[in-house]
Amino acid sequence: MLKDKVIVVTGGSDGIGKALVSQLLQEDARVATCGRSQEKLNALITSHNNQHLLALPCDVSDEGEAREFIEKTIAHYGKIDILINNAGISMRSPFNEVSLETMRKVMAINFFGAINCTRYAIQSIIDNQGSIVGISSIAGNRGLPGRSGYSASKFALQGWMEALRSELLDTGVNVLWVSPGFTKSNVRKAALTKTTSAQGKSPLNEDKLMTPEECAALIIRAIKKRKRTLVMTAQGKLTVFMNKFFPAWSDRLTRNFFYKNGVLIK
Ligand SMILES: NC(=O)c1ccc[n+]([C@@H]2O[C@H](COP(=O)([O-])OP(=O)(O)OC[C@H]3O[C@@H](n4cnc5c(N)ncnc54)[C@H](OP(=O)(O)O)[C@@H]3O)[C@@H](O)[C@H]2O)c1
Repeated sequence: MLKDKVIVVTGGSDGIGKALVSQLLQEDARVATCGRSQEKLNALITSHNNQHLLALPCDVSDEGEAREFIEKTIAHYGKIDILINNAGISMRSPFNEVSLETMRKVMAINFFGAINCTRYAIQSIIDNQGSIVGISSIAGNRGLPGRSGYSASKFALQGWMEALRSELLDTGVNVLWVSPGFTKSNVRKAALTKTTSAQGKSPLNEDKLMTPEECAALIIRAIKKRKRTLVMTAQGKLTVFMNKFFPAWSDRLTRNFFYKNGVLIK
């Protein structure tokens, strides 16, 4: 079903994006991906050794770089069918301590990165009646403490995609956003602290989380079914339900989950 489809996965050199790239290549799709680290891209290219993988350096938060990445992809494959806006970064800091640079950087990558890539890919996706996919988060459905900039970026992503869906309703393009739950990856190590440096460690036991391979398989299934949204994990589904029907209780449960003795622990 995805054979010979041209699929762009931003941030495909690690975590969920890397698993998406691998599974899409197994389905004989033609894949283009990007990341900031050339070293990680080289490792990806070496591990796959597949002529249907184009891996280019690009910081999606930079409009010029995003445009070049998308234009090179179209020049290489002739079109784009599906764009998966996956590249993302998180943060950890109470808002009353955070540097605004951390807030801006998270928004620049998670929200404007998706906007930048989509703006330059959209005509080709419309021409091919393809799909635009956003990897959001449960944090895009329920504001999470210590991650206020991350939540804001994912709420923005979902609001923009909902508007886009209505704009594209009669074009044959599907718009899907996905909210993974906690998934084993580098995202917590790379999360920006209040001083905009990488946190460098994960406060969770990563081995107990959903694997990126499971997460990628669920995303690909939702793309094939042309679904509107996908909320993953029982904990994620419960969080969305509680926040919709019991918002005040949800405030307290969320606080209790992330804090111990008044200190942010996750
Ligand atoms: N893991 C989870 O628990 C979880 C849960 C919910 C949602 N998500 C979302 O899932 C997506 C993927 O996260 P992940 O967990 O797989 O994280 P990850 O392991 O840290 O991987 C992130 C990928 O994005 C790339 N990237 C980061 N900033 C970029 C930029 N400015 N331009 C281009 N590429 C960039 C990274 O490569 P470089 O660093 O080399 O650029 C890397 O390839 C994110 O949108 C995240 O918010 C993750």
